[in-house]
Amino acid sequence: MADLLKLGVLISGNGSNLQSIIDHIERGSLKATIKIIISNNPDAFGITRAKKHGIPFVVLKNSDFTSKEEFDSELIKTLKDHGVDLVILAGFMRIISPAFLKAFPNKVMNIHPALLPSFPGLHGQRQAWEYGVKFSGCTVHFVDEGMDTGPIIIQRVVPVQDDDTEETLAARILTEEHKIYPQAIQLYADGKIEIKGRKVHIKN
Ligand code: GRF
Repeated sequence: MADLLKLGVLISGNGSNLQSIIDHIERGSLKATIKIIISNNPDAFGITRAKKHGIPFVVLKNSDFTSKEEFDSELIKTLKDHGVDLVILAGFMRIISPAFLKAFPNKVMNIHPALLPSFPGLHGQRQAWEYGVKFSGCTVHFVDEGMDTGPIIIQRVVPVQDDDTEETLAARILTEEHKIYPQAIQLYADGKIEIKGRKVHIKN
């Protein structure tokens, strides 16, 4: 059997996307293994999830480092030490540095709660709801040096209903996030993802 894809998952908060990835792995619908979970927030609920499933985790507090460079080099070291093939940003509230991307070229994925390139940055769901769009959704993409600008792997459309609040819309988007993130990782694990410039081609 081929080696399982080794994931490093970076979180800062609730970790529901992390949970979805764990669940898919445990069910056998995602052929990968999480080698390390890293949180920059010691109080992140995602850490409780890591403990519950017996997955190794590390807390790297922003305040323990004197510079972003120092933080990122520890991040890179931790991921490399655990033999990580693909880095999964799952609600990680920190901008990734060029040095980090150089260490993991085309090997960092992120999920965003809007249909990029619309509504990048913080609170994508709120931005879309306030703007009054009729459709929003979520996007899994590779990370590049911009803010949510990297090549798009999968998007899922979520219609906005007349009686939606920001919260109800966000909840329906999150449900779709939990489906497309494991799917995108499985495509990567299967070697089906080809990046050509800004475009991601899915083989077959
Ligand atoms: C999600 O909405 C994701 O799209 C965004 O951050 C949030 C993380 O949620 N990048 P969770 O921690 O996975 O529950």
